[in-house]
Amino acid sequence: MNKRNSLPNEAMIFTMNRRQFLVRAIPLAAGALILAACSPDAAPAPLVTRPTLTPVPPGTPNANAALVNGLPAALAHAEPYASVNTDELGDPLNTFEQITHYNNYYEFSTDKEGPAQLAQNFQTTPWTVEVSGLVNKPRAFSLAELYTLFKHDEYIYRLRCVEAWSEVIPWAGFHLGDLLKMVEPQPQAKFVKFTSVLRKDQMPNQNLPILSWPYVEGLRVDEALNNLTILATGMYGKPLTNQQGAPVRLVVPWKYGFKSIKAIVKIELTDAMPVSAWTDAAPDEYGFYANVNPEVDHPRWSQATERRIGQVGRRRTLSFNGYADQVASLYNGLDLRANY
Ligand code: MTE
Repeated sequence: MNKRNSLPNEAMIFTMNRRQFLVRAIPLAAGALILAACSPDAAPAPLVTRPTLTPVPPGTPNANAALVNGLPAALAHAEPYASVNTDELGDPLNTFEQITHYNNYYEFSTDKEGPAQLAQNFQTTPWTVEVSGLVNKPRAFSLAELYTLFKHDEYIYRLRCVEAWSEVIPWAGFHLGDLLKMVEPQPQAKFVKFTSVLRKDQMPNQNLPILSWPYVEGLRVDEALNNLTILATGMYGKPLTNQQGAPVRLVVPWKYGFKSIKAIVKIELTDAMPVSAWTDAAPDEYGFYANVNPEVDHPRWSQATERRIGQVGRRRTLSFNGYADQVASLYNGLDLRANY
C-alpha cells in the first residue's frame, strides 16, 4: 500500500486517481477514482435559532403519539428547523442548502451537485424496510410504521467523508437499536447487513458498473446497538430530501460517511461479516470498520486533516470524529491500523 503523509490538493488527488484508473483495468475501480474528486463549496448562510422541539413520549408502540400531518413532530416543521446553531464542540451547523447540494449518491451521479437534480423524481412512497436473518421476529416495516413505532428526535452529528471533507448536520431519526430490539436478534447474530434499493429505472447509474449494485453496508451488532447509531428519516426538522437518502438512511457518526448507507430497503442480521459495496470495489482502500482515524491514512491521501464544507482552510481530524468517549471502548484490543 502506498501510504502518503501529506494531503495532496484536490486537483492532484483527481490526477492521481485518473492515473490509477488507467492503470487498474477493472471497471469497479472507477468508483475509487471519483470518490476522491471533491469540489469547492459555497459560503455558509446565516443560522436561525428557534425554540427546542416539543418532546415526544418515550417507549413503543406509538412512540410518536403526537403525529403532525402523519409525521413525527421532529420531521413536521414547515421550514428548515434546528434547535441549536452549533454542535457540542461549538462549530456551526452547515446550512440546509450546503447539506442538500453537496452529496455522494453514486446511484444518481458521481458529481457532488448531481444528486440534488437527478434524484428529484425518485419515488419514496410506498416504502418498506424488510428486517430478517438471525432474528426471532422478522418483519417488514412500512414508512408509516417507522414513523409511529420509534421515538424520533433531533441528532446533531458531524459527518466526515473518507474524501476528507466534513459537515455538521441536524438529523432527525431514531435509534437503530430500538428497531433491532423489536425484532429480537438471536445470539448467533454478530453483524447487521444493510441494502439500498435497486431501481435501475429511477437510479441512472445503477445501469453502469461503477459499484456492484445495490449498495451494501454493514456494522457489528454492538456498533449497531450503540446509542449514537441512528436511522435518519429527516434533516433540519423535515423529511429527508431524496439526495440525502430518503426516506430512511443509516447515520454512524464516528465512521467515514460511506458507512451511512442511503435509501435502505433491507436489514439482515448475520453471523458473517458483510462485504460492503466499497470494500468490494477497493478492499485495500475501504475496509469494514472505516472508523474516522487521523493516524491511519488512506493509501492515496492523508486523513490527518479535513475541509469543513463552507469554511476556508483545513482543520485537524478528530479520532472517531470526536466521539471517542462514546465508542472507543468498542474497539479495545483491536488493531485499528489493520482493521481500517
Ligand atoms: N448510500 C448509497 N446508497 N449510495 C451512495 O453512493 N454514498 C456514501 C453514503 N451513503 C452513498 C451512500 C458516501 S461516500 C457518503 S460520504 C455519504 O453517503 C454522503 O451523505 P450525504 O450525501 O448525505 O452527505
